[in-house]
Amino acid sequence: MNKQEAHKRIQNLKELINKHRYEYHVLNTQTISDEALDSLKHELSLLEQSYPEFVTPDSPTQRVAGKALDDFAKVTHKRRMISLNDIFNFEELSDWEARNKKIVDAQYEYVVELKIDGFAISLIYRDGVLVTAATRGDGLVGEDVTQNVKTIESIPLTLREKISGEVEVRGEIFMSKKAFDAINKQQAQLGEKLYANPRNLAAGTIRQLDPALAASRKLDFFAYELFIDDKSMPKIVEHERLRELGFKTSSHTKLVSDIAGVQRMYDAWSDKREKQDFLIDGLVIKINDPKVRDTLGIVGKAPRGMCAYKFPAQQVTTVVKGVDWSVGRTGVLTPVATFEPVSVAGTTVQHATIHNMDEIRRLDVRIGDTVIIEKAGDIIPKIVTVLAQMRTGKEKVITAPSHCPVCGSVVQQAKGEVAIRCSNNSCFASEVSRLIHFVSKKAFDIEGLGEKVVEQLAVNGLIASPADLYKLTIDDFLTLEGFKEKSATNAFNAIQAKK
Ligand code: IVH
Repeated sequence: MNKQEAHKRIQNLKELINKHRYEYHVLNTQTISDEALDSLKHELSLLEQSYPEFVTPDSPTQRVAGKALDDFAKVTHKRRMISLNDIFNFEELSDWEARNKKIVDAQYEYVVELKIDGFAISLIYRDGVLVTAATRGDGLVGEDVTQNVKTIESIPLTLREKISGEVEVRGEIFMSKKAFDAINKQQAQLGEKLYANPRNLAAGTIRQLDPALAASRKLDFFAYELFIDDKSMPKIVEHERLRELGFKTSSHTKLVSDIAGVQRMYDAWSDKREKQDFLIDGLVIKINDPKVRDTLGIVGKAPRGMCAYKFPAQQVTTVVKGVDWSVGRTGVLTPVATFEPVSVAGTTVQHATIHNMDEIRRLDVRIGDTVIIEKAGDIIPKIVTVLAQMRTGKEKVITAPSHCPVCGSVVQQAKGEVAIRCSNNSCFASEVSRLIHFVSKKAFDIEGLGEKVVEQLAVNGLIASPADLYKLTIDDFLTLEGFKEKSATNAFNAIQAKK
């Protein structure tokens, strides 16, 4: 991407993100997933890092959230409610540490907490009594939702210690998966619309005007920040103090000595998180030492001394680079989209089958389009939707080929059928047998790559010629049925060994 293209893409990303943020925060509607929106924001922040000259004050990376609704009284926050920068892998974690160590070259520990996927709230206690609960809003001004928040039993209405003056506590309001399922079950029985996820339902419950309704929906709360007299304290002490004052804090919070420890905790939670009865979308890493955190300070909307280490998204955005047509055993030609490689649910994805021309037309997907992709059933990647607002005018419409890409024979379409086929009956069969011969003992002797696997690779459009074998990645094998990390690595190594 050249500078001009990057500029255009930054502009498109900003407009699209702002549109979705407005819909979400102001209109209370949502047309793309949080994860897809995060993916767009992440791309924007990476592009802005490469081209800082294109960062504008109105960029979504420069602020925290949307406008307040008109229905609630406004509350000006005593301290801005800032947010956290996201990281997604160990490399980004190491980079974060290296950047910080350049500023403060000291030995320090980290407090690692679960990142609860809920709704941030600021609670103000005056002389030990809860007086105001406010949403984040745009970080400076939020909404007064005190009445609704008072219905949440895990939030103390008075502190367990009488502290004179003002104390501020921040944390996350959330709904357990169990409570969410019960509400949706009820909705289904009443023939009403189902709610999308516990996080949106929790947010929607707090931002509606009927406290009785809020009370009926079992909301919960975890506290994670405490401000008394603006004296910063070690994060682990803050955690203990919150408990002493009567707040529910997560029992999974840990003090770890280095980023290797952070990574171990991340790996463990990547496996365990589904079993938890509330949504967690990552870990929050906080430098324990308050002096170090204060020296590092805040850049833009986020503190340097903390970050959000997010779990891999199930939905991400990427760009369609091209479409290849793979020829199946029965001669049917299937379009396979090639993407800019992206990580979805922990593996890198660069291809997705699109069923047929009808599906291409339904999605209106074009080469060059920005798309949302996900792993259906967590295994097979597919295009969910096209973000048409991201178009530059250079996208190319996808048309069906007139000739078979494998053998060059004319392509036919039977009456009443959507599928297009190669007219040469022996086309695919001969192609696959050529490939099978290539890997066999008589030829390149690629151990462990049997007929079935070669066939699967060809059927999925991952190989059309022997040379394609050497372009395969471990992730390509993982898209095939029956492959796990170990078998995929073995197959990949077997091919590389015969390069
Ligand atoms: S500390 C500067 N700790 O995640 C903000 N936040 O993506 C410091 N969140 O705005 C926040 N769990 O709404 C913190 N254990 C946790 C959290 C947590 C969830 C939310 C919070 C924050 C957002 C950042």
